[in-house]
Amino acid sequence: MRIGIVGGTGKEGRGLALRWARAGHAVTVGSRDATRGAEAAQELAGLAHAPIGGGDNLTACKDAEVVVLSVPYGAHASTLAELAPHLGGRILVDITVPLVPPKVSRVQLPAGRAAALEARESVGDDVRVVAAFHHVSATHLMDLDHPIETDVLVVGDDPEARELVIALARDLGARGLDAGALDNAIALESITPLLIHMNRRYKSPGSGVRITGIDET
Ligand SMILES: NC(=O)c1ccc[n+]([C@@H]2O[C@H](COP(=O)([O-])OP(=O)(O)OC[C@H]3O[C@@H](n4cnc5c(N)ncnc54)[C@H](OP(=O)(O)O)[C@@H]3O)[C@@H](O)[C@H]2O)c1
Repeated sequence: MRIGIVGGTGKEGRGLALRWARAGHAVTVGSRDATRGAEAAQELAGLAHAPIGGGDNLTACKDAEVVVLSVPYGAHASTLAELAPHLGGRILVDITVPLVPPKVSRVQLPAGRAAALEARESVGDDVRVVAAFHHVSATHLMDLDHPIETDVLVVGDDPEARELVIALARDLGARGLDAGALDNAIALESITPLLIHMNRRYKSPGSGVRITGIDET
């Protein structure tokens, strides 16, 4: 799969790029600055022992079948506005948690109820928006010896796109589960502030979520 990661120079984007490249995907790391994207890609390719492309965010979108949006919520609307004309026909995976610093361990719903729902409003009807990976710790992604224990809950209005992202979760080493329509992103995005609180409270580098009662690997 050809995957472009917008904001791929960041903590979460780097970890996703590393693990997906290692799993055999053609990953491009995007940045506002093409040089920064290329440098991050080179560094990650060394760790993954696999090729990784790098450049500006538009380059990351251009050849991709799946575009992952991995920027802070403060940059979500402006980044989408810039890239929306170039996303046609693609699956957009929005991993954004609408955190509002400094109170990042409290749920603060955005005006559009969820970042992913705001993304759906920003892009054309020919873009299939999926939301996932909100509970996957960047620290664990970067540590290739660490298993990804959290479940990856995947929501979106297109069942085929959800299945594809569930497979991408599996390629990280996680269990991906179909969690229904994109409206359910409100619930997924709201869990992360709880995890941030618990990371602090219990001194964890990355708590996650496990759904019980489902026999699916
Ligand atoms: N960190 C985690 O463990 C984690 C886990 C789950 C979900 N998430 C979500 O994933 C997203 C990325 O998280 P992160 O920790 O990787 O964030 P981050 O490291 O703070 O930022 C990611 C990238 O976004 C770009 N960026 C920063 N400010 C920007 C702006 N004003 N306009 C456009 N681009 C900007 C930067 O890339 P360039 O400077 O190269 O353009 C940066 O490297 C967030 O929405 C977060 O809530 C994070």
